[in-house]
Amino acid sequence: MKTLLSVATLILGLTAFGGQAETASVAVKSLRQAEVTTALAADAMPTYPTKGKAIERTFIHQPPLIPHKDSYPITAKKNGCLTCHSTDKAAKMKATAVDKSHLEADGKFNNEYYFCVQCHVAQADNKDAIVGNTHSK
Ligand code: HEC
Ligand code: HEC
Repeated sequence: MKTLLSVATLILGLTAFGGQAETASVAVKSLRQAEVTTALAADAMPTYPTKGKAIERTFIHQPPLIPHKDSYPITAKKNGCLTCHSTDKAAKMKATAVDKSHLEADGKFNNEYYFCVQCHVAQADNKDAIVGNTHSK
């Protein structure tokens, strides 16, 4: 445990100090008893746009990007997104209500839209280097 803690401290120290330190020297054993001599520094934490601000859309009917973390649980029992974005809670939570297209004719939520992150993706600014492509409009 002690070794683990000092490794964690070392890695934390390195990331705080040098940004993206590649590796750190360590001397620990894996669960399979293999010697581990280097540890990768943790990835940079994602940073999201200013809280409470929507991101401008780039094309009509684009599912708007999520300007905050997207790790709210979506399970059979609970939809963490609807706790802020459902039509009855949105105003109170200062969030935009789901689009009318996500509702049934009687105004109830249409469960075909239940899995929000199928269409909406979070936007953070720690993106990997963009890979070139030949797509044109
Ligand atoms: C704690 C409340 C809260 C939760 C939970 C939450 N959001 Fe949000 N969301 C906000 C707020 C506040 C904004 C910024 C105001 C706005 O544009 O709605 C926002 C913005 C958005 C937007 C941009 C809307 C636009 O018009 O551009 C999308 C899309 C979105 N959220 C999707 C989601 C999804 C998907 C989840 C679940 C993974 C989720 N939100 C969970 C509060 C929340
Ligand atoms: C099948 C794809 C899809 C799913 C699933 C989906 N959305 Fe959307 N959402 C869209 C599209 C597309 C739009 C943009 C509608 C338009 O402008 O025509 C949108 C718009 C929105 C908006 C902006 C509404 C506005 O008035 O600006 C919010 C907020 C939102 N969705 C939240 C959610 C949440 C929360 C969930 C899950 C409970 C969800 N969406 C599930 C595709 C989806």
